[in-house]
Amino acid sequence: MAFENLLIENKGRIQYIIINRESKLNALNKATIAELHTAFTDAFKNPEVGGIIITGAGQKAFVAGADIAEFASLDVAGGTELALLGHTTVFDFVENGNKPVIAAINGFALGGGLELAMACHIRIASDNAKMGLPEVSLGLMPGYGGTQRLTQLVGKGKALEMIMTADMITAPEALNFGLVNHVVSLEELLPKAEELLNKILTRAPLAIAAAITSVNAGARDGVNGFETEIQEFGKCFGTEDFKEGVAAFLGKRKAEFKGK
Ligand code: COA
Repeated sequence: MAFENLLIENKGRIQYIIINRESKLNALNKATIAELHTAFTDAFKNPEVGGIIITGAGQKAFVAGADIAEFASLDVAGGTELALLGHTTVFDFVENGNKPVIAAINGFALGGGLELAMACHIRIASDNAKMGLPEVSLGLMPGYGGTQRLTQLVGKGKALEMIMTADMITAPEALNFGLVNHVVSLEELLPKAEELLNKILTRAPLAIAAAITSVNAGARDGVNGFETEIQEFGKCFGTEDFKEGVAAFLGKRKAEFKGK
């Protein structure tokens, strides 16, 4: 499917989703949010796709935030609706997806851009990347999950400092705070993301999906993450991949998982 604001590229079992609004530093307008929902829906369903790397076009920005130009005309109901739609169709959707998603942060990841990266399962940043939640400098606050996911990743004190000062932090600082998993040069960014994802793709896909569900459960109100883990662990025993994994180990050979 052709998109106006996204590029889709496939490399083996990896699907790249590239946000392609370089002249606007890949800012997320409503059309891009809608396309992201379609692209992720397709990727999660497509049996040829094992995992996804999301990045921004060009060398300057991953995503410089939600599109500020679209905010100008919104009222209270419009703002609430915008956040709700974003949460449902992209940010929660990506986080709860059944396949691993890696954010390759190739420059500015601000506001909704950092929120998008935080909804992904793993973040790798290039050493030129700058990250922050600058919404309060616009009279707003993070509305695509930033107050929750930043707090989960870096703790309450650092999250409140970043949100209240609106300051950007560098990639090494983000690494230090646990906001990103790795920092590499811009040239190494996609190779590193591919290396990590290709390793994950050698593991059992249904077990990976079960692990995503269980880790996410711990951060959900009213859900007992330990209970989810027990159920998901049990379900793994009913998969062909479990039989294959054990047989391969005992037979001293490499497992060939089928995601069944
Ligand atoms: N929404 C809409 N347009 C944006 C944007 C955003 N979040 N971020 C950047 N752009 C646009 C700029 O308006 C500019 O468009 P123009 O050339 O048509 O005027 C273009 O992208 C390039 O940005 P510019 O500001 O000229 O680049 P810069 O190198 O001087 O500064 C930033 C880069 C990231 C520091 C700056 O663009 C910025 O502060 N962006 C907003 C970040 C933000 O507050 N995000 C949170 C939104 S809730």
